[in-house]
Amino acid sequence: MLKKIKVSALKPGMHLHELCGPWLAHPFWRNHFTLTDPADIQRIHDSKIEEVWIDISKGDDVAPAPAEAARPEAMSTTEILMAAEIGHAPASRQVPMAEEVSRAAAICAQANKAVVSMFREVRMGKAVNTESVGRLVDEISNSVMRNPGALISLARLKMADNYTYMHSVAVCALMISLARHLDLDEAEVREAGMAGLMHDLGKALIPLDVLNKPGKLTDTEFDVIKRHPAEGHRLLLESGTASAVMLDVCLHHHEKVDGTGYPDRLADAQISLFAKMGAVCDVYDAITSNRPYKRGWDPAESIRKMTEWSKGYFDQRVFQAFIKSIGIYPIGSLVRLSSGRLAVVVELSEKSLLAPRVRVFFSTKSQTRIMPETIDLASPGVSEKIVGHEDPGKWGFTDLDAMWSGQAV
Ligand SMILES: [Fe+2]
Ligand SMILES: [Fe+2]
Repeated sequence: MLKKIKVSALKPGMHLHELCGPWLAHPFWRNHFTLTDPADIQRIHDSKIEEVWIDISKGDDVAPAPAEAARPEAMSTTEILMAAEIGHAPASRQVPMAEEVSRAAAICAQANKAVVSMFREVRMGKAVNTESVGRLVDEISNSVMRNPGALISLARLKMADNYTYMHSVAVCALMISLARHLDLDEAEVREAGMAGLMHDLGKALIPLDVLNKPGKLTDTEFDVIKRHPAEGHRLLLESGTASAVMLDVCLHHHEKVDGTGYPDRLADAQISLFAKMGAVCDVYDAITSNRPYKRGWDPAESIRKMTEWSKGYFDQRVFQAFIKSIGIYPIGSLVRLSSGRLAVVVELSEKSLLAPRVRVFFSTKSQTRIMPETIDLASPGVSEKIVGHEDPGKWGFTDLDAMWSGQAV
């Protein structure tokens, strides 16, 4: 049976019968086949084709509309996210979240202190010694190895006065996890972590009233901020201890693949893998973090937004690996389940990025809190599914982070 659907609704598993549109716009020489490769779906998205015929007797149908007011994900975005899901699972963990979270909190606090003192020394005109933070990066790396979600999620939680320092710790942990998902060797994983920790060192030389200004920056102030990659690069060069990767990520983590970034407006091929990794990790942590003047975005919303921007902004392979490392619904995301209940993501699944462990706590039907319950959505007997993410600000929940961290935050 044939069904005409929007290109945005295409999913792996559907049997493509016909593409609707001029032949010139066709990305394929053939019409009838079952979609298995997410790259094929992406090619259709990239073409001028807007609608297709699918044969639902030979492949999957479109999913039924989610229950009641569920907000479905924008499908074109979802398809890019699905590509991360296909054939891959998050890195395996050695210990459960509950076991790693307090150890990770102690490492975060220690790392925050180290970055604070490094920035202070730079402001006093002292040279940095990048080797002194090597052991700290190893500690962060070991925590991420034991459980990738714990330290990464904790480092997202920031106080108004420690943003810049904790951001360095967060980007360090994100870089380590991403490097492992890109199959880099352990020496390169360590380099990536060191580079993440040091990437914003130049901000130590930016006047605090500009750096921490609430609200929109003037063009002049933004020009001042834009000096931090070059300033950091100079500081690292002067240290005499920084590796080539650290120097490169520090200078180029604000470059974009479409050539509109700064400071050098480098284009795709001119930007190194490590700098591309830095760009993705930097943006994710920046938009998910609370600032004095704005609340951070929900992690799942941030992944969705970054997917929308990803074409001009990020290297696609690096971005896909990043989604694999952090999840489509990262820890701390507020999600709506097919039953209409709301839940917070508490741990990623090793089986599927779409089926994490969640803590269910609210019924949208009765509009009341319910007895919290943890469900593993990847468990064989569980039929509940995530139908979309929700804006925590809209619901006014203030205890989501306590639900996944098990700590008062
Ligand atoms: Fe930066
Ligand atoms: Fe940054």
